[in-house]
Amino acid sequence: MPNLSSTVHHIPPSTGLSPEVRCAHDYERLAERCLAAPTHAYIAGGSGHDTTVAANRAAFAAWDICPRVLADVRHGHTRLALPGAADLAHPVMLAPVAYQTLAHPQGEMASAQAAEATHSGMLVSTLASHQLEDIARLAGPVRWFQLYLQPTREATLALLRRAEAAGYTAIVLTLDASIQVPSLRALETGFRLPAHAVAVNVDPQAMPVSEPLREGHSRIFQGVMQQAPRWDDLDWLLAQTRLPVWVKGVLHPNDARALQARGVAGVVVSNHGGRGLDGAPASLRMLSAVRETVGPAWPLLFDGGIRSGADVFKALALGADAVLVGRLQMYALSVAGALGVAHMLQLLRDELEICMAQAGCATLADIQGDCVLPLTTVFQARITSDADHH
Ligand code: FNR
Repeated sequence: MPNLSSTVHHIPPSTGLSPEVRCAHDYERLAERCLAAPTHAYIAGGSGHDTTVAANRAAFAAWDICPRVLADVRHGHTRLALPGAADLAHPVMLAPVAYQTLAHPQGEMASAQAAEATHSGMLVSTLASHQLEDIARLAGPVRWFQLYLQPTREATLALLRRAEAAGYTAIVLTLDASIQVPSLRALETGFRLPAHAVAVNVDPQAMPVSEPLREGHSRIFQGVMQQAPRWDDLDWLLAQTRLPVWVKGVLHPNDARALQARGVAGVVVSNHGGRGLDGAPASLRMLSAVRETVGPAWPLLFDGGIRSGADVFKALALGADAVLVGRLQMYALSVAGALGVAHMLQLLRDELEICMAQAGCATLADIQGDCVLPLTTVFQARITSDADHH
């Protein structure tokens, strides 16, 4: 294991797997001991009052999973295919998370190793703290590049061409982070990005071309939002690359439908882990409406609040094809580097398979809406479809 910097960690993380980790969710608890309090608050927090962070987690508790008996799942597996991921072993992928050296000196390099070792897909952030080419060399075959539009189209194109040349197999354009209001909790701790957490792939010379605000102008509308992506930017991006382009940060079904019509490969139903609009609904709450709107075949990813295989199962039942894991990745990274992330991914996969087997689902396609039950509803069996099983 590498020599771990004392600036990031209170105590050196263990060199092996901690016996205290019995399930993927345990990494959240253990990370509190491994991360300095301000860093922990920055990662755990969302925006403003963290309302949406809490909503993301609470939404999972509103669903139960229905067990089934006597199902033959001996041929079971978790394989799937997505645009930019022809052959995925399982539906748990690493979300794009900026500045991973905050959690561990090896940052994204360690996450990439873990993704490769566990046959997991990895989404690499524009704001990664290692060179995107170096990360691509370590990540497995399913490596996607998460793109933030840069202040100029030349700068965006330069980043896109680097990602293509490095062998990334899809582009994921994140659209829900134009305005970033820090979490009040993180602000109170006085968190500042340390010197080692640098977005090394972003050209610091590419400055926004913004006019100075005039009398009566809004700091938001005529300020920050001058640089925010618009529909013509998306059309431009789609014309620049042959890679599948996904959009991340969609909650409204009408946005999903419009993106589908525009030729986007699929969307990530996400509220940026509660780091965008504070007060946005839990992404789980929007998932089935988005699925209904785009139809059964269009690819949908999901993130926001995943902490267990049961959470993964619920997201798949409500319409996702696969899920992304954000904070849990940083927590596992802080506890045990690449080994921790690999262990966390393996635990999530095991936990998902346990749910599948107990719910009578041999494949991901078997995980349908009637496998889960909202807490407030009386269950009504769909007798016709069930007859097929016997
Ligand atoms: C993020 N997220 C994010 N998303 C993105 O598209 N680009 C990025 O650079 C980042 N950076 C980032 C940093 C940190 C510290 C966090 C916690 C999150 C959002 C991320 O991809 C994902 O949407 C959420 O993290 C999902 O919620 P959970 O799994 O963290 O609950």
